[in-house]
Amino acid sequence: MPAPGRVCPVAYRYRPEDLAEPPAFACTTLHVVGGLYGNPYALDAVLARAAAEPVPPEIVFNGDLHYLDVDADRFRAVEAGVRPHHAVQGNVEYALVAGDDSVGCGCDYPDYVPDAIVTNSNLVVERLRASSGPADTGVRDRLAALPRHLTVAVGDRRVGIVHGDPESLAGWRLALEALDPPDEEARARTGFTGPTTTADQVADWCRRAGVDALCCTHTGLPYAQVVPHAGRRSVVVNNGCAGLPNFAGSHVGVVTRLSADPQPPDDSLYGSTLDGLRVDALPVRYDHDRWWADFLRSWPSGSPAHDNYATRIQDGTWLTVEHAARDGVTLSRRSGCR
Ligand SMILES: [Fe+2]
Repeated sequence: MPAPGRVCPVAYRYRPEDLAEPPAFACTTLHVVGGLYGNPYALDAVLARAAAEPVPPEIVFNGDLHYLDVDADRFRAVEAGVRPHHAVQGNVEYALVAGDDSVGCGCDYPDYVPDAIVTNSNLVVERLRASSGPADTGVRDRLAALPRHLTVAVGDRRVGIVHGDPESLAGWRLALEALDPPDEEARARTGFTGPTTTADQVADWCRRAGVDALCCTHTGLPYAQVVPHAGRRSVVVNNGCAGLPNFAGSHVGVVTRLSADPQPPDDSLYGSTLDGLRVDALPVRYDHDRWWADFLRSWPSGSPAHDNYATRIQDGTWLTVEHAARDGVTLSRRSGCR
């Protein structure tokens, strides 16, 4: 029996073909937002950026809306802000409502993630589960009813949205370190041990799901990569974390913007133009000082979330936008992300 945090419940499993459904809705511009982690200031920044679009976009939150928001007011603020928009379930939402504490945080961590990280993550979700925010019956019903995947039409292109990968809600097959061609630094820093995910595998998922773009978030480091197949091109995007820093020496979150308008947005970090679909990573410039102060109030030094996330919140990650802009993706000339 796998340890809590390394469990993959049967309920996580689905098939790429399950995404080959009629689109849930159609839009001109779509923002995909993952890994908010209960950061209300990142939510404010996401909604403000959406409001600045010339054509109002649709927003899909692709899971882990909650995590560090053990403060009930923060939890309720995130719920209220997300509720008018679309969402798919992340492992945190699953772990909050599944009624099965043996899943721990629900992350289904692979073997190469150290036990200390897994233990701390389990403790974070245990404390969130015991807090008053998720106790509200209406909230629990809403989180339990969230779909595990969503297919959306952007113009005449189809976008598949998941939390983990096209086979599991908390799958790791689309982690930066797993994807080919290899990012050797990502593999060295994570201690990654296979199997790797080939471009052919991604193309096969896109073909079976009938999507031109595949968006995920669970593994927390953003990237975009164009995958050619059968005379066409699809793009796989990990939208990283909206509520945590994603890059070295930077405090910005990341979201993915997909649009039928081929014009890159001014704040694009990196992106690519497919036939009829423009895809960009956008920075989420949230109020770092307020988030850090809130984080310390809930998670002081010595707490499990502090051990796992304080360094990332303060200093960012090792990743640069050059690592994130993979095959077929172009860095913006204005890609400074501080
Ligand atoms: Fe996750």
